[in-house]
Amino acid sequence: MIFSSNGHHMVLKLVIVVVLMVLSSTAYGAGSFYDEFDPTFGDHRVQISGPGNRDLSLTLDQYSGSGFRSKKEFLYGRIDMQIKLIAGDSAGTVTTFYLTSDQSTGIHDEIDFEFLGNSSGHPYTVHTNVFSQGQGNREQQFHLWFDPSKAFHTYSIVWNPKLIMFLVDNIPLRVFRNYENHGIMFFPKNQRQRIYASLWEADDWATQGGRVKTDWSKAPFKAYYRNFNIDTSDKGAWKTHDLDENSRRRLRWVQKNYMIYDYCSDWKRFSQSFPPECKNSKFN
Ligand SMILES: *[C@@H]1O[C@H](CO)[C@@H](O)[C@H](O)[C@H]1NC(C)=O
Repeated sequence: MIFSSNGHHMVLKLVIVVVLMVLSSTAYGAGSFYDEFDPTFGDHRVQISGPGNRDLSLTLDQYSGSGFRSKKEFLYGRIDMQIKLIAGDSAGTVTTFYLTSDQSTGIHDEIDFEFLGNSSGHPYTVHTNVFSQGQGNREQQFHLWFDPSKAFHTYSIVWNPKLIMFLVDNIPLRVFRNYENHGIMFFPKNQRQRIYASLWEADDWATQGGRVKTDWSKAPFKAYYRNFNIDTSDKGAWKTHDLDENSRRRLRWVQKNYMIYDYCSDWKRFSQSFPPECKNSKFN
């Protein structure tokens, strides 16, 4: 009797432990990079490590950059990625985290986060863009209110039928809305997309318009990714995610203090006429 009831307890404990493990792994959502992603280029420059294979580093050296992409494609969802950018002199480098459909079609959709490096002590530029049916030119750029190379921060893309939201540590940087009800047909909504990330060199344009070159004596350069979360579940909060009063206030704070470029204010570039959504996008 005593033995079997002990055995019962053991089984119960085991069940509880397993349930807790499952719960906590979905709560952080941090899966194994091996399970969800494949390397795209750079061979050994893509390194997966850590408990549960939840850490990944990308390396850039004189010979190659590196990258990875998700095995799955999806239409809508929320993706969170913790990223720590290249420390020190990162001039000429570009670290990316983006979604794209098949680019060979000529009518691809894309949602971009790109981090343009800088010389030591100068701020990174966060570059965002949206492509619909092969058309882009929807850039907004920001500086950050912290040094993104000192610690991990969470960068998120929320994509639902109404909007695309770019967030940093849950603070919205940018909202790009679907204005099809106003007859504006510029929104990625019918092509499945994959998650991509990469680290590469673009010193012809990345840093201060190409004036600051990559210092290869500082190579190899490394960027770190960890604890990704991919929520495409039918019950996910991403489905109805939108601005509330608090997040709208934060968005205004970011746009007022940290936005350094907005295509909708670029009179020189769009002297003939602004893209149609610019009129509406003032009322986020
Ligand atoms: C680099 O630093 C300069 C000077 O602080 C700043 O104007 C620029 O926006 C930064 N970013 C890039 C990508 O050049």
